[in-house]
Amino acid sequence: MQHRVAAIGGDGIGPEIVAAGKEVLDAAGERFGFDIAWTDFDIGAERYLATGDLLTEEDIRELSKFSAIYFGSIGDTRVKPGVLEKGILLAIRFHFDQYINLRPIKLLEGVTTPLANKRPEDIDFVVVRENTEDFYVGIGSRFKGVREEKTLEVVRDLYSVKFGLDVETDADELAYQIGVITRPGAERVIRYAFDLAGRRQKKLTSVDKANVLSDVYGLWRDVFTDVAAGYPDIATEFNFVDAVTMWFVKNPEWFDVVVTPNMFGDIITDLGAMIQGGLGLAPGGNINPEGTSMFEPIHGSAPKYRGLDVANPLATVWAGSMLLDHIGEHDAAAAVLRAIEQSILDGFVTRDMGGAKKTSEVGQYLAALVRTV
Ligand code: IPM
Ligand code: MN
Repeated sequence: MQHRVAAIGGDGIGPEIVAAGKEVLDAAGERFGFDIAWTDFDIGAERYLATGDLLTEEDIRELSKFSAIYFGSIGDTRVKPGVLEKGILLAIRFHFDQYINLRPIKLLEGVTTPLANKRPEDIDFVVVRENTEDFYVGIGSRFKGVREEKTLEVVRDLYSVKFGLDVETDADELAYQIGVITRPGAERVIRYAFDLAGRRQKKLTSVDKANVLSDVYGLWRDVFTDVAAGYPDIATEFNFVDAVTMWFVKNPEWFDVVVTPNMFGDIITDLGAMIQGGLGLAPGGNINPEGTSMFEPIHGSAPKYRGLDVANPLATVWAGSMLLDHIGEHDAAAAVLRAIEQSILDGFVTRDMGGAKKTSEVGQYLAALVRTV
């Protein structure tokens, strides 16, 4: 069996951690009887600086031939913050309508969490972050003056929306950003979260801020309630986002699946990453169940460590395990996760986790482990 997978190393430490990840996934393939044909894309800062290209039509055409992309990281000190993030990472998420951002928060055996009284069985849940809407739709404006007329649009496969605005103000300067939640956009990700909860502990928490941002998150809540009616065996609850940050720290064992709009999902998954042992261990999947999905570490590109072979590849390898799950190689996915856990128990880890191993050494070690664990 052969799987074709696209790889984008990207910037900073991205190429090194993706190289380590590929090695581990290839080893998993050898053991479990499949082969991955990798196609590398040079999308990232280097190409942008040389040609001005972020994500081209040609990239999109080529990437659309794959059901999975393995992605390193984006961000480079030579480029203004936001350009690569919006022009490449968010562009891929939106273009391929990767509406589910799946972020497991799981404390592995042997990992130190700042929550000293918690054990691996206490921290094991999944955040399902909506990945295309909310304040991430990227429409807004900033102006000085008394009046601005503006047309703002969001064009998606699922729907499009157009705001014709005529703004008058006596403030010196004004900025606004529009957050968008739609019924179809919320419904599909909430449904996915219910289905996932059904395969786990049958508990789903919805996170919002409907007490203050009552239009956008009021709609989110209504959609959640409507979808819940079709899943009578799943226990549900609502949490406000401020409160959920407190419960993640105090009682993480309460959570099984958490579903949240995009921006709160961004914030609470960094907190989730910390309680599972740090950003070096936190993977994510950007999923379109019918299209092209993308798997990446949650962390950034750490440009100052570029080329030094010191970056922790575990989040990327774990993202690789999620990729394997996505393409149907469930046994291999589980073995990759066991290998990660074993390498931590063996103390075969990079500097940030208290070890002295290089990125490439950890990759080789995991590749060897994956053949046996
Ligand atoms: C993440 C990142 C991105 C986000 C940035 C880099 C655009 O923080 O994947 O969580 O905000 O979604
Ligand atoms: Mn983030």
